[in-house]
Amino acid sequence: MKIAIGADHGGLGLKTALLPLLSAAGHEVVDLGTHTSDSVDYPDYAQAVGRAVLGGEVGRGLLICGTGIGMSIAANKIPGLRAALVSEPHSARLAAVHNDAQVLCLGGRVVGVELALSCVSAWLSAEFEGDRHARRLAKLEPR
Ligand code: RB5
Repeated sequence: MKIAIGADHGGLGLKTALLPLLSAAGHEVVDLGTHTSDSVDYPDYAQAVGRAVLGGEVGRGLLICGTGIGMSIAANKIPGLRAALVSEPHSARLAAVHNDAQVLCLGGRVVGVELALSCVSAWLSAEFEGDRHARRLAKLEPR
């Protein structure tokens, strides 16, 4: 799986820790920043990852800020993008199975590296069930 990852300064530590673990798990990761601890604006990174996902350059996106909240709000403002903020693997799995979320958001100041990795693994290994869930997703888009 090719994954774009983006973080602000609040998510930089978790992003840095996840990068080698995701590569070791066999994923190709495109790191869209941030790369330093300077204070930055999370919408810029949510939009960069969102563009990569919707443009088909990557299959999925990961967004990390301090709480994950700002990233999830920003990503969900982008038409066609479904971003799920999670902090445990059960919800992460269902974000794929029920919500077909192409983007997972994590709080770098909320979850530790192991928990974050288990969320990402659960999400990436699950498949969208379609059917009634597809009907519900269609209702999310502007008509
Ligand atoms: C940055 O300090 C912080 O506000 C940001 O990382 C995020 O938690 C916003 O939702």
